[in-house]
Amino acid sequence: MLKTGKNLRRRLGQGALLGALMIAVVSAPVRVHGEGAMGDAPVRHVADLRLWVLSTERTSYVMGLNERDELQTLYWGERLGSDHDLSAAHSRGEHASFDSPETMTNLEYPGWGGRYYSEPALKVTLASGVRDLVLKYVSQEIRGDTLEIRLKDIQYDLFVKLTYKVFPKEDMIRKQAEIDNRTPQVVTVESAQSGAWYVPAGEGYRLTYLTGRWAGETQLTREPILPGKKVLESRRGNTSHQLNPWFAIDARGEADEEHGRVWFGALGWSGNWKLVVEDTPPAHQVRVTGGYNDFDFSWPLAPGESLSTPPYYGGFSRQGFGEASRLLHRFERDEILPDRAHPRVRPVLYNSWEATEFNVSEAGQKALAEKAAKIGVELFVMDDGWFGKRNDDHAGLGDWYVNPQKFPNGLKPLISYVNSLGMDFGLWFEPEMVNPDSDLYRQHPDWAMNFPGRPRSEARNQLVLNMARQDVKEYIFGVLDKMLSENNIKYIKWDMNRHFGEPGWQEAPLPEQKEIWVKYVRNVYEIIDRLRAKHPSLEIESCSGGGGRVDLGILERVNEVWTSDNTEAFDRLRIQEGFSFAHAPKIMSAWVTDVPNMNGRSTPLPYRFLVAMQGALGIGSNLNKWSAEDFALATRMVTTYKSIRETVQQGDLYRLFSPREGELTANQYVSADGKQAVLFAFLHSQQYLRPAPTVCLRGLDGKAAYRIKSLDGKLVEKQEVLSGSFLMHHGLNLNLRGDYDSTVVILEKAE
Ligand code: GLA
Repeated sequence: MLKTGKNLRRRLGQGALLGALMIAVVSAPVRVHGEGAMGDAPVRHVADLRLWVLSTERTSYVMGLNERDELQTLYWGERLGSDHDLSAAHSRGEHASFDSPETMTNLEYPGWGGRYYSEPALKVTLASGVRDLVLKYVSQEIRGDTLEIRLKDIQYDLFVKLTYKVFPKEDMIRKQAEIDNRTPQVVTVESAQSGAWYVPAGEGYRLTYLTGRWAGETQLTREPILPGKKVLESRRGNTSHQLNPWFAIDARGEADEEHGRVWFGALGWSGNWKLVVEDTPPAHQVRVTGGYNDFDFSWPLAPGESLSTPPYYGGFSRQGFGEASRLLHRFERDEILPDRAHPRVRPVLYNSWEATEFNVSEAGQKALAEKAAKIGVELFVMDDGWFGKRNDDHAGLGDWYVNPQKFPNGLKPLISYVNSLGMDFGLWFEPEMVNPDSDLYRQHPDWAMNFPGRPRSEARNQLVLNMARQDVKEYIFGVLDKMLSENNIKYIKWDMNRHFGEPGWQEAPLPEQKEIWVKYVRNVYEIIDRLRAKHPSLEIESCSGGGGRVDLGILERVNEVWTSDNTEAFDRLRIQEGFSFAHAPKIMSAWVTDVPNMNGRSTPLPYRFLVAMQGALGIGSNLNKWSAEDFALATRMVTTYKSIRETVQQGDLYRLFSPREGELTANQYVSADGKQAVLFAFLHSQQYLRPAPTVCLRGLDGKAAYRIKSLDGKLVEKQEVLSGSFLMHHGLNLNLRGDYDSTVVILEKAE
């Protein structure tokens, strides 16, 4: 029963009165707020309730000001129908003297101050010694799909501008914060987060995230969310193989690939990042706070200066993890990737690394290029070894001039030859690194990050250049720009083969030295942005010893990523599955390489091709060792890939059978226009003559007819045409046998 007047005031405290009034308002059926039924505008201000409603096609995100003028998250999930149901925000009353209202209230952007005990979004120390920050609402501005809300400390002119951008089609929202010091004193920022995402309060949530290591990236990991904190982070200077800045949360047992509510989020930052998953008492409120890692972080803001945080994206699916991934894939393609305005399919590439390693030469590369062109390769990439005194990994990094012994006439003859074969030319760089055995290091030992007088820890015999320095940034931009200006290079593979160590920056004033973590990444971004602006047709692959730098920050600047140095096809199935939870197949570079591969495993060539054809296909084999049959098969596979790559790269992915769960792995792709679907299936090891399970397809038009093409005759059903409903409900049977068998089935919708 609704409590009113004195009773309620006593129960909730004076401050909660407004909230109580709103409860009363909600129970009155004739009262209309704002526009009544939810309008179509992506951002709406319901002024009388002091609420903001962000709407995507299928989701709503509601925030409001409570009676203390704090900005609170009120709802995130499936789209709400009507404003009539909404009520104004009210903070949670004090539970006990140990549970403050500010800690129990779902604050959008909590400053560390008052009695706030959960993960704060912002923590500062003022020059005066004050370390207390209480942020309250100041103003708002709506511009189409973007909302800006300004908060300010209750006393000091320390402002925070929160920017929300709504992506209606992809059911996603971007949060970002800018901290603005308008006080007359220096404010040192000790933690700057982009914001927090809250799921409805309650127990029993499950966290899904991606863990890994070199050669074993993007392993799907799941665990219950329990009281306390789970920190996902990188302290390594880049995104890292170990954890990816992506999460998904579902109510345990509720969601699977096709069903259930899934909340997910990702940070766009390629440096030290942090996601704190927290379940706080007493309501079991689960939130995920994300932004710059505050470990070894300190950023003094002089009067008039500001600091912006990385973009923090959130989305919601009510059709399970499959739909959550499809939304993210669509979002990356439509809103993040550099070709978002004019999508381009990824070319089939050849990369020389596994064939030659450092042993590159003009003649050797030409021989490989000639063979690559014959099987339909469109982009020929020369990997490591072409520059400086680079004969192994002990020397040369930093010396970005062409090695005169290996290429006596420069790169032009090779590039012209590659172009004459109808292929573009790409080149490997590792711009952020230096070998102590290099001319660059001998000239500028101080350019490597270091603490004076302390050891400089090498990894792969190399040190990290301090890219936060202006002179280093300009030098690296200059050498890359020169190479691109003098040669017809259409593609750079940008590598980073170690993480930070001893991140000193003695040239900077002491209070600013910890800014190295952020300024380094900003300068890497700036170099890439400037190169792209100056060389508009340039494409870039992000690599960090495989998938060590894959996140929504670098993806605004690169066209694809190197998924893993582990190119062994069976291992790849799991790496690629995990990858697909957070990132689009279009950017997932996947090569066919030689066997035996890592783990000493040998899989048949068709299996290797089909695994790689589920992303951006590349070939990394030593073509000099291939037989005539290998070439014939490869040519057929590349031709097939070109006929389905638009579907694989721009379409919707359905994960049908997971490599984590059984002998069969199956993935299906449906083109954006629904006219083509492709099924890939892989059998690990057949036992007891057990037939592969029936595969029911998804995402088809039940009433439509589909022409079926099986390239290898492994499809049991022999009909040429089958209906969408048969394919989705009865399914297909695949005659897969033995070890590492595989097949692809292509379906074209009959007009
Ligand atoms: C890293 C990359 C590889 C290759 C080598 C070259 O390990 O991930 O693909 O480019 O560097 O040294």
